[in-house]
Amino acid sequence: MSDRTNVEKTVRAVAYAPEQQDLLARIESAVRVQLAPKPKRLAHSLSVADCCEGLALTYGVDPFCARVAGLLHDWDKVVPAGELVSRARDLGIDMGVDLELVEPLLHGIVAARELPDVFPELPREVWRAVEVHTTAAAAMSPLDQALFVADGIEPLRPATPGIQTVRELVGKAPLEEVFWTSFVGGITYVLEGGRYLYPGTIDTYNSLAAARRNASRGPAKSA
Ligand SMILES: [Fe+2]
Ligand SMILES: [Fe+2]
Repeated sequence: MSDRTNVEKTVRAVAYAPEQQDLLARIESAVRVQLAPKPKRLAHSLSVADCCEGLALTYGVDPFCARVAGLLHDWDKVVPAGELVSRARDLGIDMGVDLELVEPLLHGIVAARELPDVFPELPREVWRAVEVHTTAAAAMSPLDQALFVADGIEPLRPATPGIQTVRELVGKAPLEEVFWTSFVGGITYVLEGGRYLYPGTIDTYNSLAAARRNASRGPAKSA
């Protein structure tokens, strides 16, 4: 059995309340319009929504928030690079480096700042997940982790050894372990490709690695 099947079988129909169904339909319609110039990006976003919802059901995360975050996470991927950088500057986004260097990371951060005005009915957790889906963060909620993982393993992504490793863990390992494997795999991908590594990612890696070390040691023994 392929690992892709392993991921797909977690996707199940969810009985959403009528108002949630209406909102999901409205958001999906808006995403279809927004991403129409990039059909592959649209297909990816719809696939991430399914995958993220499936992960949410597997790991006890709110499936509605997961589905919505998946639908919206790449909303600003159709914005030209130069415009995205200038919008980030206008919003006062400070990454500690020249924003041109981190342009591929900006679409989630900009969307998380601008989209709450478009969809004010959505909870803050959704925007946080959208914000950190490119960078990750030292503190990742289960929803943040589900979106990060879903973005990396949705079934339309061609299988690579790293992606397959993550897919194999779904449903077998805790979500934080699946996320960690996906996060480290992403860093490896950047390094092996000789791409620019955002310094903030190193800080995030060190924070997450320290937290994992502390967790594996268990609670401190009293004297
Ligand atoms: Fe993205
Ligand atoms: Fe994406």
